[in-house]
Amino acid sequence: MIDLHTHFLPDWDDGPETWEETEKMVEIAIADGIKKICVTPHFFRFSRHGDNPEILEDRIQKLFDRFGSDNRIEFYRGAEIFIYPNLISQIQEKKLTINQGEYFFIEFPSDQVPPGTKELFYQLMLAGYTPIISHPERNSVFGSQPQLLYDLVNRGCLAQVTAMSLTGEFGSEVQKRAELFLENNLVHLIASDAHDSQRRKPVLSKAVEAASKIVGRDKAEAMVEEVPQAILNNEIIPDWGSPINPKIKKKFFNFFKDRFFKKNS
Ligand SMILES: [Fe+2]
Repeated sequence: MIDLHTHFLPDWDDGPETWEETEKMVEIAIADGIKKICVTPHFFRFSRHGDNPEILEDRIQKLFDRFGSDNRIEFYRGAEIFIYPNLISQIQEKKLTINQGEYFFIEFPSDQVPPGTKELFYQLMLAGYTPIISHPERNSVFGSQPQLLYDLVNRGCLAQVTAMSLTGEFGSEVQKRAELFLENNLVHLIASDAHDSQRRKPVLSKAVEAASKIVGRDKAEAMVEEVPQAILNNEIIPDWGSPINPKIKKKFFNFFKDRFFKKNS
């Protein structure tokens, strides 16, 4: 499996505090069947050292030095960028995309989808980038208005669901949103968003089991294999179905339900 969204770098963000903790996380990932990990350190949020790119480069280099000879695991670089008006120049200057390609992770505040998001995404895509929305199921606005997520995905961006959301470890509300987004083809890949070896571990297998019950095993496995591999290769991801607007689907369902009950009452 491939884990595309993780926090493995010590002394950069709210991930592990020490290299010993990073090593424990690596062992957990390997035991779970993960063979490739993309590190996605926070940028513009939770990061220490004023987002200094030289310090980030140092941490990434140390990670590669430490695990480069471990043939059980491969590391790739990326970032998780907090939504910010001047993103395009920052992405270009600071090499914040996944494996130097055109995909990158973008994070929203947990209770907002800022005005101007559609326009920003449009500009990003015009510049050749494909945003991947980090864990939309943990955003209360996408939760209450899933059509906003549909609008963005329908315009060509991707979205990542977090493994612990699917397994219910962020609560039943977040789990229900994750399931709804899966059912409606609004999320494309599963990642751990791991931060440590205790509470937020790099584990994907349990989420693949949970997703299999909703979208079938082939698609659930593709969400941790073919899809993240295509992103690492900077290729178009496999087509597992067009996004569905849950609001319209609900309207249709209610329309037929009303007719059925009226006819039979
Ligand atoms: Fe993250």
